[in-house]
Amino acid sequence: MRTPRTEGVGVMSGEIRTGVPRPQDGSAASGAPSGPVRREEAAWESAELAAQNEVFERRGGPAEDVLVWMANRYRPEVALACSFGLEDCALVDMLSRHAPNVGIFYLDTQLLFPEAHATRDRLMERYAIRPLRILPRLDPEAQAAEFGPALWARHPDACCAMRKIQPLQAFLATQRAWITGIRREQSPTRLHAPFVEWDRQFGLAKANPLAAWTAADAWRYVRDHAVPYNPLHDCGFPSIGCWPCTRAVQPGEDARAGRWSGFAKTECGLHQ
Ligand code: ADX
Repeated sequence: MRTPRTEGVGVMSGEIRTGVPRPQDGSAASGAPSGPVRREEAAWESAELAAQNEVFERRGGPAEDVLVWMANRYRPEVALACSFGLEDCALVDMLSRHAPNVGIFYLDTQLLFPEAHATRDRLMERYAIRPLRILPRLDPEAQAAEFGPALWARHPDACCAMRKIQPLQAFLATQRAWITGIRREQSPTRLHAPFVEWDRQFGLAKANPLAAWTAADAWRYVRDHAVPYNPLHDCGFPSIGCWPCTRAVQPGEDARAGRWSGFAKTECGLHQ
């Protein structure tokens, strides 16, 4: 049995616990790629995406055009990675208007803020969507039993790898393209994020429709369209990850200063 494909917002639903051997196909517990990733085609696809990106760069996107192009090019094997942060809420709204049958998934690290779950529920109700829930192999209790308590406080990279990166890798192996909410303005590592690109880390196409947006653009979109959003954004949390590794920022602090505060780490590794 293969992992379900995205066949539309209304169809892509349920949950997948990654890294668990499936009795029907005997696949490895590692969550190794088994889907339609066609590595031999990566070179020409990468060139196609680079050429298309130049078109979007000339036009400054727009975000809606990037979304529609991705949907037409890759549907049904394209999905939005939704963390229920501000940008992703805007993208859910945009998808509902311009490409309603693109699937939506979220990496449930089981350490998300309750407000993220509440935002998910509000989006589900408003847009009649059923995002696919991707779970890590180990729940937090099993992780603590195997690796000791509060791994995130001792080895945040290892925790992110187990709870986000490996599950994402396993899911993306079933897709040909994914869509994210990253913006160039968010961090120096995202400064050159293209609108569309070949993602060499995960071996599929990637779109960042909001690459050129500022934070003000995201807020304007969400307010203009009355999009439900995570209330923590109104409480000093411009960037929201897992609760053990996210704090509110003080006025004047960088927007991502609240992520992995106290560590040199600035990215979980989803975006390289
Ligand atoms: S992170 O790498 O530091 O965690 P950030 O929180 O800025 O990333 O989110 C950037 C983009 O990564 C989001 O817009 C979303 O597309 C994707 N993303 C981050 N966290 C998740 C998650 N838990 N589930 C799905 N997508 C996510």
